[in-house]
Amino acid sequence: MGYRRYPHRGTALEDKVSITSIGENRHKVTTATLAEKKSRREPITCLTAYDYATARLVDEAGIDLILVGDSLAQVVLGYDSTLPVTMDEMLHHTRAVRRAVKRAFLVADMPYASYHVGVKEAVRNATKFVKYGGAEAVKIEGGEKRIDIVNALVDAEIPVMGHIGLTPQSVNAMGGYKVQGKTLTAIENLMRDALALDNAGVCCLVLEGIPREVAAMITAEVGTPTIGIGAGPECDGQVLVINDLIGMTFTNPAKFVRRYADVGSVMSEAIAGFKQDVVAGNYPNDAESYHLPKDTAAALDDVLARKRAIR
Ligand code: KIV
Repeated sequence: MGYRRYPHRGTALEDKVSITSIGENRHKVTTATLAEKKSRREPITCLTAYDYATARLVDEAGIDLILVGDSLAQVVLGYDSTLPVTMDEMLHHTRAVRRAVKRAFLVADMPYASYHVGVKEAVRNATKFVKYGGAEAVKIEGGEKRIDIVNALVDAEIPVMGHIGLTPQSVNAMGGYKVQGKTLTAIENLMRDALALDNAGVCCLVLEGIPREVAAMITAEVGTPTIGIGAGPECDGQVLVINDLIGMTFTNPAKFVRRYADVGSVMSEAIAGFKQDVVAGNYPNDAESYHLPKDTAAALDDVLARKRAIR
């Protein structure tokens, strides 16, 4: 299964060979860590991030996987779907996140049309995420029909995160953002997709918007770790869009979202406070102002006094 393409999965520590042993971050999350976590049944944590500051907080909190998701399109750039976001926009944000991330495994999402028009184009775009964005893997949506691309990326030494179920780049083809895998035929198709991706050697597999029973079956069947979003608790790991988690969105959250904070309200309060203080003349106060050095202030007083005397 997936282990064929990643022979280092489960490799003992003493078998590791590195040309950068000095200063190597021993806690760095790699594809091997993900596989080990699955085999030890240790839950894998994954969050999206799109900028330096957020990525630093996510990384320092010890989250295993950081995904620069194409959800960037909606939650940061204000588009109404993920379809318009471009390679340049995704690369720009991947680079910002790369500068922050030291421990987590960094995955960049390939945007719509960056891998849909041919295998060569897909590999060319994926290499940009690795070479110029510092990504350690790329994510693509779709199952069996993307296998040629997954094979080509793996051959190009680029780990691939698969993504099946509710795949937002297929919103027009799916007729909306709907839970997938609700009929026997749909379950069969999902299982076929999952097994095909596993065989092709994906380093992990996002299961989005599917019944927990189906996600549990897939998780038990594939060697690769599954990362669920709206797919129930039996997945090997869980991912959320960071803006949903911290309450920084402008739409009603989906059923599966758990809000851990209301950062939107905290920000609104802070912005309103700033406005009120400026309008009332309460900001900045003297302690928040810079002052001249004593000798410059004295010299300036002399100059002003002489000017007043001449007038
Ligand atoms: O773009 C994204 O944020 C994603 C996750 C929801 C998995 O694809």
